[in-house]
Amino acid sequence: MRADQNSSINLSDPPRSRTTGHKSRHVALLSNVPLLGRTALASQIQQVASEAVPPHAEYPNLIAFLQFWKWFVPYVRDCIHRKAPYETYSVDRTGIFPVSLPQEEKSLRIAIAADWATGTLEAETVAENMKASNPHCTVHLGDVYYMGEASEINENCLGQPTAKYRGVEWPPGSLGSFALMGNHEMYSGGQGYYGRFLKTLGLLKPDKSVKDPQSAGYFCLDTGHWQMLGLDTGYHSGGMPALAAVPLVNRIPFLNVDARFDDKMMAWLGRTMRVLQSNGTKKPVILLTHHQPVSSFEHAFIKPAKQLARAGLFDGQELVWLYGHEHRLTVYKKRVIAGSLNVYPRCIGHGGMPIRVTVVDRPKPEILYYDPRQHPIDKNDPDTMVGYNGHAVLVFHGKNLTIEYHDVVDNHVLLTETFTPDASGSIQYSSSKAADSPISGSE
Ligand SMILES: [Fe+2]
Repeated sequence: MRADQNSSINLSDPPRSRTTGHKSRHVALLSNVPLLGRTALASQIQQVASEAVPPHAEYPNLIAFLQFWKWFVPYVRDCIHRKAPYETYSVDRTGIFPVSLPQEEKSLRIAIAADWATGTLEAETVAENMKASNPHCTVHLGDVYYMGEASEINENCLGQPTAKYRGVEWPPGSLGSFALMGNHEMYSGGQGYYGRFLKTLGLLKPDKSVKDPQSAGYFCLDTGHWQMLGLDTGYHSGGMPALAAVPLVNRIPFLNVDARFDDKMMAWLGRTMRVLQSNGTKKPVILLTHHQPVSSFEHAFIKPAKQLARAGLFDGQELVWLYGHEHRLTVYKKRVIAGSLNVYPRCIGHGGMPIRVTVVDRPKPEILYYDPRQHPIDKNDPDTMVGYNGHAVLVFHGKNLTIEYHDVVDNHVLLTETFTPDASGSIQYSSSKAADSPISGSE
């Protein structure tokens, strides 16, 4: 349904990248092409396209394709690239970062976005919206477009301008900033993520220099009442680029596209949970990953959930699980996955890429809320219809967790959820939205 056909939804236009000096969403839209769009091949063409033409050009994808020598050689090179070594915490560091509420404040705020680093005006706007909530920490759930190379991290995450575009800066929190890696960082082997982005992340000093570095692709933020576990599904998701788009190929282990947790990370997770539960109590847990363990629309990456279930680290607990990779906002009902994980799945992959339009033509009982809105990137061109970007803010009041889902347009709060854990490991859940919220669904 077109946005202007439904009077109950927000008619505001989101911001537009064109003419502002930011990267165009037209190139990024290629990611929405079925099968081809989620491959390293498409990413390589997109990278060339974004540099090949000014942002006003009408056919950047075609121009990039015709300049095949610019993408084909790098594509072949990246097919046989050496992956960066898997980084871990040194023996004297735990990877557990205490994030305590400053004494003078009443709530701890952690702003999260996924699939955000596009360099577009939409990414810039979402970053400004995140800053408006004065977050103590920020977390990116991965994907720096298009190849996650150091130059793209400089431009799309660290705000460094290039000859063609304005840079966009990932907003640090007052206490810290953290990031997972996605499949796009691994399309170039992960060197840019480890060697460039990670150097700026961790607990921060007031001048934003790093006090306690995030020196691996995973971490634990300990808020006192809740534990947030940022777990790395990106490292084993790069795969063989030409084949990674074929759904059944994803299930062949040696092709490396099952987004599994590395054994080193699983060993760290076991140690971490033993430390955190050493007093005999289990604090409520929020899982953060790049890839989706659950989806009503796309292939779900279930391997990491099976690894967690087999490890038995969360037996008897209900978990909140935030993830991206899928470029949309969807809130699911609580469900059991991988046999024994009791989770509240929330897809927040609507950070910066053109959003896949969520079409629900008959009720899906597993979905609580989704965002049905769409708009054309180009007015009058229905082939450019996309959804709306946004981010989430986690607000901790004592043991109560509230998740606010913020829209790119005017930073409106579209939906609010509250999670209240009890001593048994269960979580009481409630949600609310304004009467004029464009979000579809109800509790
Ligand atoms: Fe991704």
